[in-house]
Amino acid sequence: MFTIITGAQFGDEGKGKVVDLMAGDYNIVARFQGGDNAGHTVKVKDEIYKLHLIPSGFLLDSRVLIGPGTVLNPEIMVEEIRMLEEAGVKVSAEKLGIDGKTSIIMPYHIELDGLREATRSEKIGTTKRGIGFAYIDKIARDEVHFSDLVDEKRLMQRLSDIAPQKEEEIKAIGGDPSIVTESSLVDRYISLGRELAPYIADVSYEINKSLDEGKSVLAEGAQGSHLDVIHGTQKFVTSSSTIAGSACANLGVGPTRVNEVLAIVKAYITRVGAGPLPTEQEGDAGQHLHDVGHEFGTTTGRSRRCGWFDMPLAKKSVYLNGYTSAALTKLDVLTGLDPVKICVGYELDGKVIDYPPEDTSQLARCVPVYEEMEGWDADLTSVVGYEDLPQKARVYVERLEKLMGIPVKYISVGPGREQTFMK
Ligand code: GDP
Ligand code: IMO
Ligand code: MG
Repeated sequence: MFTIITGAQFGDEGKGKVVDLMAGDYNIVARFQGGDNAGHTVKVKDEIYKLHLIPSGFLLDSRVLIGPGTVLNPEIMVEEIRMLEEAGVKVSAEKLGIDGKTSIIMPYHIELDGLREATRSEKIGTTKRGIGFAYIDKIARDEVHFSDLVDEKRLMQRLSDIAPQKEEEIKAIGGDPSIVTESSLVDRYISLGRELAPYIADVSYEINKSLDEGKSVLAEGAQGSHLDVIHGTQKFVTSSSTIAGSACANLGVGPTRVNEVLAIVKAYITRVGAGPLPTEQEGDAGQHLHDVGHEFGTTTGRSRRCGWFDMPLAKKSVYLNGYTSAALTKLDVLTGLDPVKICVGYELDGKVIDYPPEDTSQLARCVPVYEEMEGWDADLTSVVGYEDLPQKARVYVERLEKLMGIPVKYISVGPGREQTFMK
């Protein structure tokens, strides 16, 4: 069984929570793209774990893998391993594997990210974690691999080859080039490499072999479909492919192996950072979604922008990912709003369309066309079955299902594991 999970909106849909919930049924949970720009919150009883890199299956028996298509900041990785160990979760080499070909985020990538963002007249609002610059080096074949990091001699050789060009880049953008070879940073990376060495793995081989043995594998996406570097709202996107096909390409697993593609979709929409969000609400409804949904970024603490459910964007996600079903999260947050609105189309240049225009500047000019639904007042956070939802909430869920054209399999009504049920 090979299942892929991706975010259907702009990230923070609750992927971490759903992966934690499902991980019990999977032998392996693997991250396939992104880096510590991701921030996943997993709540189990009173414990809250906020993680950026370690796949969200870490609490259960699954083996967790970081695939070679991710970009890895070793400092964050070691911090997360420590944090989990302090919380009593042992992260042994049997538990965690990191592919040798994973690109390492170097201090100069973080520096370049910050410098570039500062010089942009129109900001992207990146997480300043060096993600884009680490991916530039991967594509340019100038990256440091995880297998270089764990071998001091190889790391020094690699750095001496890359350093002159990196120094020029930093100088050209107004920064201090000494960061590239600063001895304390290099020593720190050598020591992080030593600490992480036991985790080295061949992720593609492991996953394919496990599938051959009849085991089950869950690929956990980071970010969301509209932040995809190819199909998203350029330039306001991240630097990796966030859609389901990316799991195959980045993990080295053929598309014929895929059994299920699950959308994680919020009952409304949020976005952190810049870029179009046609249904954004700046008045009372937006404030309600923000406050009740605690919509603050897990990675940067920034306020998330909030709006009504955007069906044209959801339909595009269904096309981009080939979803077989969805998990609908944060339905509880809509309690108390009346009416509840679904954006079913946009008005653009005098025409009504039901699918997003490809061009980002056109999307930014789209005016939402809403369908209004009756709201409900009941608190949903202790609902444990579909039939116990207020009738108006069920009408809302079924309307989303019909318009998206895929079944809703799970409904989430709170951050806790137990606050989820099958529809
Ligand atoms: P991810 O990046 O997709 O993993 O999502 P985040 O963890 O960044 O953001 C989702 C936030 O919503 C987290 O704080 C979760 O604990 C919380 N959450 C997840 N599902 C629900 C839900 O159904 N209801 C409520 N109220 N909170 C939820
Ligand atoms: P999870 O996995 C929400 C956004 C940033 C910025 C843009 C580019 O928690 O859903 P980057 O640092 O990637 O170059 O920033 O992408 N972004 C996210 N937004 N959730 C995320 O991850 C995100 N990761 C990146 O805010 O707009
Ligand atoms: Mg998040």
